[in-house]
Order: sequence, then C-alpha cells, then structure tokens
Amino acid sequence: MYVCLCHAVTDSQIKEAVSQGDMTLADVKKRLGVGSQCGKCTKMATQVIAAQLDVEPNYYEVA
Ligand code: FES
Repeated sequence: MYVCLCHAVTDSQIKEAVSQGDMTLADVKKRLGVGSQCGKCTKMATQVIAAQLDVEPNYYEVA
C-alpha cells in the first residue's frame, strides 16, 4: 500500500527502513523522502513506523 504518494513510498519500504535501523519519522524521511513534500503522509508513516517497532524493536531492553 502506498503511504507517500509524492515519493511513491509503500508501507513495505517503510518497514524495511525500520528493519535497517530507522526509528523515527525523521530517519525515514532522510532515507526515503517520506513527508518532505506535501506532508499528508506523515501521520500514516508514523503509524507504520510505530507498528513495525512493536513487532521488531530496534533497541535492547534493560531489565
Ligand atoms: Fe508524502 Fe506528499 S504524500 S510528502
């Protein structure tokens, strides 16, 4: 599914970016350009990032 129409970025691409270490919208914006034009995709992109971080956290939990 396309999340960012301005840059033709899909949810799969955003999930892959998170897998490669991106943790915030700013990270994904730098990597893929998401949200850097009209900005209408930022809310959905943030949700995709948060959902992927729930599945695949990019940090080590400290007990
Ligand atoms: Fe992503 Fe426009 S839809 S910047």
